[in-house]
Amino acid sequence: MSFFPKFRRSNAGMKRMYNRINRLYRFITGGLGAKLTTVVEHFAAEYPDLSEASVLEYACGTGLLSSVLAERCRTLTAKDQSVGMLEVAREQVAGTGAVITFAEGDILNITEEDRSYDYAFVSFALHLFPVEQEIEILRNLCRVVRKGVIIIDHERKWRLMEAVIEWFEGGYYDQFIKTDFEILWSQTGATSFKEEEIAECRVMRFIIDTADHG
Ligand SMILES: C[S@@+](CC[C@H](N)C(=O)[O-])C[C@H]1O[C@@H](n2cnc3c(N)ncnc32)[C@H](O)[C@@H]1O
Repeated sequence: MSFFPKFRRSNAGMKRMYNRINRLYRFITGGLGAKLTTVVEHFAAEYPDLSEASVLEYACGTGLLSSVLAERCRTLTAKDQSVGMLEVAREQVAGTGAVITFAEGDILNITEEDRSYDYAFVSFALHLFPVEQEIEILRNLCRVVRKGVIIIDHERKWRLMEAVIEWFEGGYYDQFIKTDFEILWSQTGATSFKEEEIAECRVMRFIIDTADHG
């Protein structure tokens, strides 16, 4: 692992990069859509209230997760800081019947009101940030939801292909796979935490016990 020199993009650099590669993204990610479908089906089976839920998604990219979620929840707002990625997302869902509100939004500046959504989802984006920012993001998402925050990301096993792609992306894949959220989750405002591997993805649930919030 150590033979990869560290390369981290700034938030502005990340935005520029995704605006440039927006039309390549779906080719690079291959079978990710199928994996995300498996994860959401798993979650929907365990949380039947998802069908009645209002959902907020951050860092939605080209809408791979958004289109899966939209079929299984009541309302979906999907945000990303890259207008290029949002443009592709809108094209992908056009004509499918999916009703998704796409909007620009920076996950490092979450402005939604407290408890304004039931669930929040983020797929394959938490690893873009250093651990202090990950905690800040999770704390903000936990503030915004009534029920829980679901993070879907790289599994903890180091893989060469992922490491190469993520090196180019300029995020914190190398640190993310080593970060133990079992230790950190209590800093997020969640009342319980569960981590599992589904379809080769690391799936983490930060649950809000609504009884605590009246
Ligand atoms: C690896 S892609 C994942 C996209 C999508 N969630 C998926 O699973 O295919 C990472 C996404 O995070 C977005 N992103 C990066 N930094 C962001 C930020 N600060 N705020 C919002 N979105 C951000 C990028 O624009 C990109 O669309």
